[in-house]
Amino acid sequence: MDREIDLALTPPGESDRAGGARLAGALNLDPDTARRLHARLDPKVYIETFGCQMNEHDTEIMYGILGRMGYAQASGPEEADVLLFNTCAIRESAVEHALGRIGQLKPLKYKNPDLVVGVCGCLPQVEGQTERLLRMFPHLDLIFGTHNIHQLPELIERARHERETVVDVWESMGPDGIPERLPVQRAGTLKAWVTIIYGCNKRCSYCIVPRTRGRERSRLPEDIVAEVQELGRQGYKEITLLGQNVNAYGKDLGYTDFGDLLTLLDQSSPGIERIRFTTNHPKDFTPKMVEAIARAPKVCEWLHLPVQSGSDAVLRRMRRSYNRRQYLDLVRRIREWMPDAVITTDIIVGFPGETEDDFRQTLSLVEEVGYDAAFMFMFSPRAGTEAATLPDQLPQEVKKERLQRLIELQNRVSLAKNQAMVGRVEEILVEGLDKGKADRVYGRTRGNKLVTAPGSADLIGRLVPVRITEAHIWTLEGSVVEAAVATG
Ligand code: 5AD
Ligand code: SF4
Repeated sequence: MDREIDLALTPPGESDRAGGARLAGALNLDPDTARRLHARLDPKVYIETFGCQMNEHDTEIMYGILGRMGYAQASGPEEADVLLFNTCAIRESAVEHALGRIGQLKPLKYKNPDLVVGVCGCLPQVEGQTERLLRMFPHLDLIFGTHNIHQLPELIERARHERETVVDVWESMGPDGIPERLPVQRAGTLKAWVTIIYGCNKRCSYCIVPRTRGRERSRLPEDIVAEVQELGRQGYKEITLLGQNVNAYGKDLGYTDFGDLLTLLDQSSPGIERIRFTTNHPKDFTPKMVEAIARAPKVCEWLHLPVQSGSDAVLRRMRRSYNRRQYLDLVRRIREWMPDAVITTDIIVGFPGETEDDFRQTLSLVEEVGYDAAFMFMFSPRAGTEAATLPDQLPQEVKKERLQRLIELQNRVSLAKNQAMVGRVEEILVEGLDKGKADRVYGRTRGNKLVTAPGSADLIGRLVPVRITEAHIWTLEGSVVEAAVATG
């Protein structure tokens, strides 16, 4: 019966308020009942995502699962019948950001008591944080973690019916292993994320991730190939392989590794033009992998190679299991095979006990490698990690001042790198119109650099050669090489 009303009376995507008003008129109901009925007929979900690509991809999967349950994506939190916060715990600033947002949107629950509000992702996986959430936000209906998103249908159902906050945080993935073939509603139509390995077995002394994402579990190569082939059939052009440490891929399987996987995907992915991957661990990055990247035409020459520090003393205390010389050897090897490789990194400043001299070694490493770009962070102590208990924690002012100096240097290096590209022709995958302008497009080079160029919407989805004409710190400008596009 409900479904008949649904088909007859609710255009897809209509807001509950508008739909409710129409139902109120058509069925002679009071406005509140009509709005609730509309929400039941045409429910919507909104997910706010914090943190890394893993979380963004988990959000795509949650939208997929909820889509199967009949939930459409709401255009904003105000429209939602289910509102989820997919949180990040890597630094305290990320946690505060999420908590601030959960607090800010609390009034939505008071306005609409039927709204299901949930928190998921990495924060609930950290010891003590679920209790913190419950204390701060008694209005929450649901708290779950990173390991049981495939259970969303039951979790939402329980949250709807139980009076107390439903808390269901798994410590690991559970006996059935990796849930395969979950539905996905991807954010884009050209570029897609594909997880190849979950978790991380490293024990970097500052990092909370092994606690939030568990031990390493690689997906089977045949499952990855099947997903990538499906993406090719659907018209996707670029995939990014995801993992906390993609270079550890296959270790737990015992018969394959990341180099093999790249070669396999390069040769078995019709329609896919570009293959990227992130993130890497220098310790597990073997010469064989460098060679596989260089030899596979679809695999792009962009390497995100988190170094964290240029000082051996700090690297040791971070438990990174490589030293500066070994890291530089890897960079040299990459450049031997791929002279134009774009290399980016992550750096932490102000690690406990970092001296001015240690910090200068980080500055000198940045110049020596010549990173194209870097994510730079102040050390943030995470409760439960070794680094949080180390002596000689640095004052905030010192961390800030070092971060500032590092950013200034990196900006100079990035600009110089980009300026060196002026005059070169780069292939870009055109992704869309630049800030909505009808006569300018944007896309990325194989090295993952953002380029804008004059052009119109008909270029979207195409790989076009672009001559770089101008360089900025974070972007490039160029012009499409016309002859090649006309004939290409
Ligand atoms: N404090 C600051 N930065 C951190 N990262 C990880 N843990 C911390 C921490 N406790 C950074 C590292 C990592 C990136 C994803 O986040 O640089 O590579
Ligand atoms: Fe964290 Fe280190 Fe694992 Fe990266 S490799 S997720 S920094 S523990």
